[in-house]
Amino acid sequence: MKRVTIRVPATTANLGPGFDAFGCALRLYTDVTFEETDSGLEITGCDEAFTGPDNLAYTSYCAVLASLSEEVRGVKIHIDAHIPICRGLGSSAALLVAGAMGANVLRDSKLSTQGLLNITNAMEGHPDNLAPAFYGGLTASMVDNGLPVTVNFPLHPGWEFLALIPDFDLPTSLARSVLPANLSRSDAVYNISHGAMVLKALELGDEKLLRNAMQDRLHQGYRKSLIQDYEKIESLVRTTGAAFCLSGAGPTLLCITQTPGLEEKLGAKLPTITTANWQMLPLHVEFRGARIVHAQ
Ligand code: HSE
Repeated sequence: MKRVTIRVPATTANLGPGFDAFGCALRLYTDVTFEETDSGLEITGCDEAFTGPDNLAYTSYCAVLASLSEEVRGVKIHIDAHIPICRGLGSSAALLVAGAMGANVLRDSKLSTQGLLNITNAMEGHPDNLAPAFYGGLTASMVDNGLPVTVNFPLHPGWEFLALIPDFDLPTSLARSVLPANLSRSDAVYNISHGAMVLKALELGDEKLLRNAMQDRLHQGYRKSLIQDYEKIESLVRTTGAAFCLSGAGPTLLCITQTPGLEEKLGAKLPTITTANWQMLPLHVEFRGARIVHAQ
């Protein structure tokens, strides 16, 4: 095989208290095509700034070939990204996953998905976006002895996800730099207990339980100041009864509800309380992980 296109879903990480652990795949995709050539690197489909050897799809492509002790030959990479960049919807993880899968498929699929997750987790530093991007659905992951371990959790079919995506970005490195290095025991207990409830509420379809459980003391409170109008939007969403959290490191805000019509309810009021432009994007859960959509 000389050419392969990998489709990777967007992901929302943390889901409130599950910092660096919980994640869910969503039906919004980045497709990346890899074609081996005789020499050189050519990257198209993205901003000029991302066409160098530090492109994440290429770095994970090379990391997988290195782990297979295989030579990096020339490669053309074309990126067709529908996941917005630096918005908290897993755009970086999607490129890492695509690169890892692309290299593996082009060299006879010698590594398992777990093997690819191990390699990309070492690059990203946390598996919460990578795991649902590889496996699909709702996942919880831990890192044990340096290696990620992931399980899928069931999800009630009635959930509707609504992403509120602003017109400004927020680099994850900045959103992590404002977090304290240590946590009090009471805050740790708060997050552990709320995290367990989030998973059960998502399984049961219990909106009230999810609304209460999807709160945290580990990251969201520290990140609010980086996202203009966060508190006003949270208050507005809470009047509707929907659950609310930061999507990953932000700045996208995520609403989860069992009640249809949330977009209409928020649509009239959101522009009147905010200064940035917020796109409302209804999303459904993607139960399939990254996959080959074309190969020759
Ligand atoms: N768990 C990560 C964070 C997700 O919140 O920083 C973004 O990569």
